[in-house]
Amino acid sequence: MTPSSELRHKCNAALDFAGRQLRHLIETYPDTFPMYTQAGKWMHGGEAWTNWCEGFLGGQLWLLYRHTRDPYWRAKAEHYSRLIEHRKTDRNVHDLGFLFWSTWKRWYDLTGDPQINRVVVEAGQTLSLRFKEQGQYLRSFVAEESLFIDIMMNVGIIFYAAQQTGDAEMWRKAMQHSLTTRRYLVRGDGSTAHEGLFNLKTGEFIRQSTHQGWRDDSSWARGLSWALYGFGTVYSFTRDARFLQTAELCAQYYIEHTPAHGVPPNDWTEPNPALPYESSAAAIAASGLLNLARLTGDPARSLLYRDYALRIVDTLTGPEFLASETPGWEGILKHGMYHQRKGLGVDESVMWGDYFFLEAVCKVLGEE
Ligand code: GLY
Repeated sequence: MTPSSELRHKCNAALDFAGRQLRHLIETYPDTFPMYTQAGKWMHGGEAWTNWCEGFLGGQLWLLYRHTRDPYWRAKAEHYSRLIEHRKTDRNVHDLGFLFWSTWKRWYDLTGDPQINRVVVEAGQTLSLRFKEQGQYLRSFVAEESLFIDIMMNVGIIFYAAQQTGDAEMWRKAMQHSLTTRRYLVRGDGSTAHEGLFNLKTGEFIRQSTHQGWRDDSSWARGLSWALYGFGTVYSFTRDARFLQTAELCAQYYIEHTPAHGVPPNDWTEPNPALPYESSAAAIAASGLLNLARLTGDPARSLLYRDYALRIVDTLTGPEFLASETPGWEGILKHGMYHQRKGLGVDESVMWGDYFFLEAVCKVLGEE
């Protein structure tokens, strides 16, 4: 299915609006990396919990540059990428894929400059150092014994670094991490757990847990979207059918459990959620589904994923979600959720939501 001219028009209008919002942000608060809004405003000094979002602003600038070819966006995109270069050796987070895939990898794809590629590769090498032989996973930022579903969005940069350098050992770690996550965090019905806890001495899996979801045995929507997208990416590197099957199982769960407009609540298990939407999960799912539509070998499912992704983008480019008709709002996409229990970014714009929304919009327009 090709996008209707009406949807293409909405996507172009969303990108124009994003340009205005981002220009306001980087000119009013230069060289800052806000994560989520409070009452629609980016600058508030609220807690970060962990620093995983610093690539998403530069990533949006790269997307705008590619869309407009305006040198203003190119200069800003390079500048915001350079501001995070030092993070390529950051051992404190499990998020170097988020940081460097959205920025330096986009820069490299545009230029083919080996110096830029070296930064991407180094970030992947650093991330691989989180691998634990006992348990066979990349540890999360919270503890040695903790594996997060979110890391499936980051492991791609390790596969990439291994491919670029011919490092079989690094490839093995990325592969084993993906298999461990598939085994312990993805359930038979395609739902996902946020976290897995392991015995540090024996490496045995102990139990599933959550930080941002409703319950340990529930399915936090963004976590599932990370899995849907991330396992698809791992399949595109490995061509191992197990990963495509897992991504498709997650897609099936998403589609079966989400209202017709395509936007889930923060957790599908929460009874009568007070807040009906987690728009960033929808944006990530839309972008991941557009990838899956290309990856799956089944034409009917390809059509379903694309059709469903277009439906999500149609919803998110409407006035309930796009902030273009909300005076004074500084983000792009409303109704996102960062960490409900901690009260961080609840029903707000979130930087990764804006990034994956623009990525999905660009894919709909054929720009990815
Ligand atoms: N920690 C990543 C997320 O909130 O999705």
